[in-house]
Amino acid sequence: MIFRQLFDSTSSTYSYLLASRHGGEALIIDPVLERVDRYIQLLRELDLRLVKAIDTHLHADHVTGLPALRDRTQCITVMGEQTKADVISIRVSDGDHVDIEGVSLNVLYTPGHTDDSYSFLMADRVFTGDTLLIRGTGRTDFQNGDPRAQFDSIFGKLLKLPDETFVYPAHDYKGDTVSTIGEERAFNPRLQVKSVDEYIELMNNLNLPDPKMMDVAVPSNMRVGLAQDIVAQKGWSLSPEQLRDRLEQGQVALIDLREDQERKKHGIIPGSLHVSYPRLAPELETGGLLQQLARDSRKELVFYCAYGERSAMAVQAAQKAGITAARHLQGGLAAWKSAGEPVTQ
Ligand SMILES: [Fe+2]
Repeated sequence: MIFRQLFDSTSSTYSYLLASRHGGEALIIDPVLERVDRYIQLLRELDLRLVKAIDTHLHADHVTGLPALRDRTQCITVMGEQTKADVISIRVSDGDHVDIEGVSLNVLYTPGHTDDSYSFLMADRVFTGDTLLIRGTGRTDFQNGDPRAQFDSIFGKLLKLPDETFVYPAHDYKGDTVSTIGEERAFNPRLQVKSVDEYIELMNNLNLPDPKMMDVAVPSNMRVGLAQDIVAQKGWSLSPEQLRDRLEQGQVALIDLREDQERKKHGIIPGSLHVSYPRLAPELETGGLLQQLARDSRKELVFYCAYGERSAMAVQAAQKAGITAARHLQGGLAAWKSAGEPVTQ
């Protein structure tokens, strides 16, 4: 198990790098834009391939490293389904899991600090974002924060975890690095309340100034999905209507890049093949399934995913691999569904 806690001193943010082995897949939680060079260097040094980057919520105090990491490593971006970020590869909800080789995180919806706040549980440790901090809790006075929801998230979910579970928060301002659920229940001053009303009262009277970076960070963190524009400018995008016409004319081999969990939950476009995004690179190589399919079928390869982010990266990779008849469904299955096009289970 490879585990690194990385610190951004400007915003006091902790980011976490996880992998099961050298030479394997890695994921990162809450990366900071200014530290992306450092993460890339560390990935190289540890011989890791970044496949997923998660934000626990839409941050107000730093600019996220998600889009820079996506553009430099072609990794999948992950946030909660409530997020106001424009394009994220996978939007998770409570009960989902985020998997990479040898690592599985259970997704816990823990709103309160913001309405898109999630925690991620991995065996002996939980990444609590800004929901539960060490001897503190995340403020609830902006971004649809809600002290009642936070009370429920903390007391109803996080404190139900075993006492010895390690707590790894998204920030610490005092120099602490890790705590446990038992320690926080006993010693976190915000949690020594007798009722939800007492907690609300406490949280509503903190009178904190706005984060210094808020006016920069929030709008920037909401606009992260630029890859689709570049792809569209090259003429490699199809609208749902264009895709439907081409499917009817039998001109298209349609490829679903999503994971099994997403396919089960949201359905599939009828007649599509399944090549999950992490398997894309080998299938695009000489002798790979997609290279062969493009050559033998003489059909256009059209990629789709949930919102069009993975498929935008796939179409770029396919074009680079010499498959000029590669396109993608702009906006993904979400756009397909809102255009009223059919989906099967
Ligand atoms: Fe936050």
